[in-house]
Amino acid sequence: MNSISPSNNTPIPALEWPTDQEPIVILHGDTRDIIRRLPDNSFQCVVTSPPYWGVRDYGVEGQIGAEAELDVYLDTLVDIFREVRRVLKPEGTFWLNIGNTYSSGGRKWRQEDDKNKGRAMSYRPPTPPGLKKKDLIGVAWLLALKCQRDGWYLRNDIIWYKPNCQPESVKDRFTVAHEYLFLFSKSEHYYFDQEAIKERTTNGNGLKNKRSVWSINTEPCPDAHFAVFPKGLVRPCILAGSRPNDVILDPFYGVGTVGIVSGELSRLCVGIELKQEYIEIADKRTAAVQPALIPAE
Ligand SMILES: C[S@@+](CC[C@H](N)C(=O)[O-])C[C@H]1O[C@@H](n2cnc3c(N)ncnc32)[C@H](O)[C@@H]1O
Repeated sequence: MNSISPSNNTPIPALEWPTDQEPIVILHGDTRDIIRRLPDNSFQCVVTSPPYWGVRDYGVEGQIGAEAELDVYLDTLVDIFREVRRVLKPEGTFWLNIGNTYSSGGRKWRQEDDKNKGRAMSYRPPTPPGLKKKDLIGVAWLLALKCQRDGWYLRNDIIWYKPNCQPESVKDRFTVAHEYLFLFSKSEHYYFDQEAIKERTTNGNGLKNKRSVWSINTEPCPDAHFAVFPKGLVRPCILAGSRPNDVILDPFYGVGTVGIVSGELSRLCVGIELKQEYIEIADKRTAAVQPALIPAE
């Protein structure tokens, strides 16, 4: 495994990019610091799922998602995604997975759940100004519209329907069984291989343009105590947004699902992740595609 240490505050040159021999490079650190050091127009496609607001405690200093104020969380992500736009090629696409959340109604913490250990929270963000206890905050759309106003072309809101979603004990609303996947482009015209992701017609005799509701089960990852991307959610994004040997970026790499799918589809991948423990898990999961790890300073 190749291991390269980028010095503090210096640009990270293309020399350190993934190659056929080392198809994955993981950059360890805070995305806010790392991404601004990556060169302009260098990635074909970005696929990511940032931490949701007040949903998970990753237990690492500098984690995003633990901001006391919703606007600070949104602005932090919009700033990072502006950098994503800079490093994306003009013909590139950005696929953003995010779910909605409810206001906490003043609860300060959440107990550990046996089935879902990452849901234990030592804090809960307060109800945002103007909202009430029990309100659906609509974080996903707030973020998507802020990104649009910041310069992104917002091209699709894809509903990721989860047939095996977590049951909820609520009695006065429906169980939430979906999240969003937003498709953004940097330019008005961009690379999009519609043919690569066509789906069967209802009678099974032909193919049609893929629809905007995708039914995909969540996939457990026993090593990680949080929800990882199902590979089935990432695959269409990479197939439609890139060609073999293109470089894909995930600025919130987690345990490396985007790297695995990139490798399976003969793409190269750069991941940025803050938590060393997750990088080690990602490294194990992507061993088949021989990832290169760039450690922290
Ligand atoms: C929703 S998870 C991503 C999961 C990933 N899609 C997968 O399949 O494994 C979000 C990730 O963002 C990481 N993270 C949180 N704050 C970060 C920061 N400031 N810089 C880089 N990574 C961060 C967390 O450690 C976590 O691994």
